[in-house]
Amino acid sequence: MPTPRPAAPQPDQAHWWRSAVLYQVYVRSFADSDDDGVGDLRGLVARLEHLAWLGVDALWLSPVTASPNADWGYDVADYCAVLPEYGTIDDLDQLIATAGAAGIRVMLDLVPNHTSDRHPWFVESRSSVDSERRDWYVWADPQPDGSAPNNWVSSFGGPAWSLDPASGQYYLHNFLPEQPDLNWWNDGVRNAFDDICRFWWDRGVAGFRIDVCNMMIKDAALRDNPPATEDDPFIMQMFGQRPIYNGNRPEGHDILRRWRTLAGDYAPERVLLGETNVDTLENLAAYYGSGDDELHMGFNFPFIEAPFEADALADIVARTEALLPSGAWPVWTGSNHDVSRLATRWCEGDPAKVRLALLMLLTVRGTPVLYQGDEIGLTDRVFEEHELLDPVGVRFWPYYPGRDPERTPMPWDDGPNAGFTSAGVTPWLPLADAPMHVAGQRAEPGSVLHLVRDTIALRRRTPDLLAGAYRRLPAGDGLWAWRRGSATVVALNLSAERGEVALPGATGAVVIGTDRAREGSPVGDALALDAWEGVVVTSRG
Ligand code: NOJ
Repeated sequence: MPTPRPAAPQPDQAHWWRSAVLYQVYVRSFADSDDDGVGDLRGLVARLEHLAWLGVDALWLSPVTASPNADWGYDVADYCAVLPEYGTIDDLDQLIATAGAAGIRVMLDLVPNHTSDRHPWFVESRSSVDSERRDWYVWADPQPDGSAPNNWVSSFGGPAWSLDPASGQYYLHNFLPEQPDLNWWNDGVRNAFDDICRFWWDRGVAGFRIDVCNMMIKDAALRDNPPATEDDPFIMQMFGQRPIYNGNRPEGHDILRRWRTLAGDYAPERVLLGETNVDTLENLAAYYGSGDDELHMGFNFPFIEAPFEADALADIVARTEALLPSGAWPVWTGSNHDVSRLATRWCEGDPAKVRLALLMLLTVRGTPVLYQGDEIGLTDRVFEEHELLDPVGVRFWPYYPGRDPERTPMPWDDGPNAGFTSAGVTPWLPLADAPMHVAGQRAEPGSVLHLVRDTIALRRRTPDLLAGAYRRLPAGDGLWAWRRGSATVVALNLSAERGEVALPGATGAVVIGTDRAREGSPVGDALALDAWEGVVVTSRG
């Protein structure tokens, strides 16, 4: 049982998530307690000590619900049952209780856009055109020539429609054919999800990360998507169309408002964190509604996809600050189970850059979300074609290896299987190539892990870092510096050259830095930074 920590300075418990550090657990790859090579809930409970020591406030667990795993849990067969490989609902209750005792809340992943094709709802829907649940999914007749009802393509490639030979109709799937899309125009679907939300929230689940929450409602007339233009993002050009009718519909906001009202029935209010994978910050801002009636937070994909360059990142932060409605709260992340890890994508495995990226994530204004392994600077693994399990990698190889590279098991120590599972067991995915692990870094005060832990602790005791306004400060090329609140400055050098940030009239000291030796040193009018160095300074003036 982890040692309870002193309570964080959270004057406003209702808004705990604003001062929180969230941590994404990809359960399958976190810790295996029963030697089947697959991470599970008991394994996670056994490793809570690490998370409490690190100082995170809440976990988001990737789906733990029953699933045939065509898409590793994102094809749900029962929204109220735990996948047996991961344990039982009692194990989940135990996790919520044990984590809660250590001051850590637990959020789950809600997958409302689609179910598994094995979900009893779809089995019933498919059984007959007259089935009571026929309209719970998106069914449509073929065009006169027998082809799919319209031109929509799946986010995972190929047509978004599959023919059901028995009924002669097509069903819609914005992802795999094994993931039929629900019909969110149907009130029965809406009511069923109200019940699912209550089921988990009543058990103490602190909120949901909501999968593809921008695609739930589809155009009622099933109009063709227009062709992509050369000004559209690469992904739209690759698919040849702009997805304006198979998702991103204005009517989808009704569902979020409905859930926000439901979440407000709980104390503290249950948190809605959307996977808002939209192309513009304007579209992202829309998912916050008027600031307090839709999502509490929406993931910022333009930030995740930006290059690791001062102006690119600073521009997204500034525009996000300007575009979010008043009262809305940003969320920042650099890695997740769908994108190459920040240590690889942004930092090319360079430890100096990794430190800088993590310091940045933990000090911009908003809620940071770390993905398991970020705290030790874990990098992607390079996969061979025959090793791939992700259906997306299998489909797009060799152009895209899919998402296995960022989903490898968590390396805990230098023992067999890096402590993820026992000796002699084959982990479900091979371990990462890099020899880094949690135990090694915990024993080394100068490690990335200690930097992350100490920066989290600094946030907790520094009101400026939790809630202070963000204001960019003038600085030269490759430099990004900003003030938080009244007395805190963050200065980062995202370049290979030494640089200097002017802080006219400032007196203060470095409170944390990527170069730990610098901490405590005084800061005056000018702050010199080595290549890829970052510091947080308390500064008056
Ligand atoms: C986004 C999830 O993060 C991803 O892993 C999944 O494949 C798709 N949504 C479909 O559910």
